[in-house]
Amino acid sequence: MLKMQSVKKIYRTAMIETHALRDFNLEVKEGEFVAVTGPSGSGKTTFLNIAGLLETFEEGQYLLDGKDVSRLSDNIRSKLRNEKIGFIFQGFNLISDLNIFDNVDVPLRYRGFSSSERKKRINNALDMVGLTARARHLPSQLSGGQQQRVAIARALAGEPKFLLADEPTGNLDSLMARQVMDMLEDINKNGMTIVMVTHDPDLARRAHRNIQIVDGQVTDFKIYESHIDSHTADNSDGTAKNSNSAKNLAAKTI
Ligand SMILES: Nc1ncnc2c1ncn2[C@@H]1O[C@H](COP(=O)(O)OP(=O)(O)O)[C@@H](O)[C@H]1O
Ligand SMILES: [Mg+2]
Repeated sequence: MLKMQSVKKIYRTAMIETHALRDFNLEVKEGEFVAVTGPSGSGKTTFLNIAGLLETFEEGQYLLDGKDVSRLSDNIRSKLRNEKIGFIFQGFNLISDLNIFDNVDVPLRYRGFSSSERKKRINNALDMVGLTARARHLPSQLSGGQQQRVAIARALAGEPKFLLADEPTGNLDSLMARQVMDMLEDINKNGMTIVMVTHDPDLARRAHRNIQIVDGQVTDFKIYESHIDSHTADNSDGTAKNSNSAKNLAAKTI
């Protein structure tokens, strides 16, 4: 479970203050697949970075797996992030001079696993994304879709509870985007909680629930009940405390 209550995030530069999140409320239940949409600059990445313990915030509360993680030291935040969160970014963020195997290994090295455990996890993860044969290739030798699959393998190898994806298909053509989305869907069906920011309404519709962020707040959500498996069905009520209208709350699409 991931729950934010009245979270406020301000970016301060010499000249201006940006209120990136204002009174931000959201709950994501275990096993859910949530798609986040909204205009550019509305706070989607800020939300995801806070959810993924990459950034701190000034006010409000954030509960991760029932634990208050609002105010932790950098060290403890990094450790928790490494254990519980997998990240996928629009630009893949692979290390260009490491081969695929070693890229997937990077976050595992921080976890103190034995080399045989790391090897097992890396091979399993590469197998899951269908890239075993490419283990010794460099990122530049792969297509964009394959590079994103490596990034998915890197996220999965840590066996995180939450997978956070920031426009993971933004740099891909539509065929590759669909393949990556198919993969995320399978991963979710195997029980992982996924929050994905996307601009693509067709991909968003494939999630259990769509949340819209406008001007640093959740303004709308839709629940796609037909996608929800039995294990998450009792969690389908959702949460959108900032929702502007009763009409939005009723906008359930079967
Ligand atoms: N590091 C930063 N420093 C200053 N302002 C920032 C920083 N990151 C984001 N912002 C501002 O915060 C707002 C929300 O940004 P962001 O979360 O990246 O939006 P989105 O992902 O929805 O496009 C924007 O106005 C953006 O310019
Ligand atoms: Mg963004």
